[in-house]
Amino acid sequence: MPAFSASAPGKVILFGEHAVVYGRPAIAVPVTQVRAKAIVIAEPKSPPGMLRILAPDIHLETTLAELPESHPLAVVIQKATLALGIDHFPACSLQVTSTIPIAAGMGSGAAVSVAVLRALSASIGHLLSDVQVSDLVYEAEKIYHGIPSGIDNTVITYSRPVYFIKGKTMELLPVKKPFNLIIGDTGIKSPTAIAVGDVHRSWEANNRQYDQLFDAVGASAISARKAIRSGNISTLGPLMDENHRLLQQMGVSSPELDKLVEAARAGGALGAKLSGAGRGGSMIALVEPETSNAVTTALLNAGAAGTILTRIEHS
Ligand code: PMV
Repeated sequence: MPAFSASAPGKVILFGEHAVVYGRPAIAVPVTQVRAKAIVIAEPKSPPGMLRILAPDIHLETTLAELPESHPLAVVIQKATLALGIDHFPACSLQVTSTIPIAAGMGSGAAVSVAVLRALSASIGHLLSDVQVSDLVYEAEKIYHGIPSGIDNTVITYSRPVYFIKGKTMELLPVKKPFNLIIGDTGIKSPTAIAVGDVHRSWEANNRQYDQLFDAVGASAISARKAIRSGNISTLGPLMDENHRLLQQMGVSSPELDKLVEAARAGGALGAKLSGAGRGGSMIALVEPETSNAVTTALLNAGAAGTILTRIEHS
C-alpha cells in the first residue's frame, strides 16, 4: 500500500514579534528538533473520497466529512483540493503527529498544515510549490491568529532562517556563523489571537507610543540581520535583551516569562527574550556551547516546563 509522508519543523521568532504585524521587519528561525509529520496511506477499499483523519496527539479520529468545516485541518484540506483543482482526494487515511508544543509560540499549527499539504499533494503526484504551500498555510493560519503577519507559514515552509517584512520582503537569511539557542517553555498556553488583539487595542489607544515601540523593535531586527549575515553573533545578545524590554513595554510579557528570561541571563546566556505572542508560551536564550548546560538548569530551576537546545545554521 503506497504511503506518502512529509514533515515540517517548529519555529521561534528571534526578533520582531508583534511589530511585524505593523509592517516592521522580523527574523524567525526553524527549530528542527521538533516536527509535525503527516502520513497519507491510500485506502482503495474505502468509498471514493473518504478521507480518514487520525491525530492521536489531539485525540482526534474522524473522517473529513464529519469534521466541522472551520476546523483548521478541514480548512487546509479544502484549500488543497481547490489549489490542486480536484473535487476530493482518493480514499485514504491521513495520520498527523507532532512533537511541537501546542500554543507555545513554536508554530505547531502552521507546521501541521505544511506537512499535511505536502503529504496530500504528494499522494496524488502533484507537488505544490513552496510559494503555494506558504500561501495556503497563511489562509489556514487566519483561523489560529486572526490576521497573521505571515512570518510563521514562511519560516516553516522554507525551513530556513528568514528576514521578513509583511507583504514586502521574504529573504532567506544566510547565517555566516552558527549559533545556539535554548528555548524555555513557560508551560502556559497562550493563544496568539488574544495577545495580538490586545496589542491592537493598545496601539489604537496610544498610537504614537506603540509606533515608537514598533520602530525600535524593527531597528533591532535590522541590526540583527546584519549581525547574522556577518557572523557577528556577540551583538545578538544585547539586541535580544533590548527587544525583550520593548515587548515588556508593549504589555505582552508576563511574570513567568520575565522570570525565565532573567534566570537564563543569570545562568550565563548572552541575551534572552520572550518569543512569539507572549503572555505565556516560550522564551529564547542565546548561549555559547560551554554555558548551555548551566542555562538549561537555570531555566528548569526557574520553573520552565521544558527546554529545547537548537543550533541555527545555514542549511
Ligand atoms: O505564533 P506565535 O505565537 O509565535 O506569534 C506570532 C507572532 C506575532 O507577531 C505575535 C503575530 C504574527 O502574526 O506575526
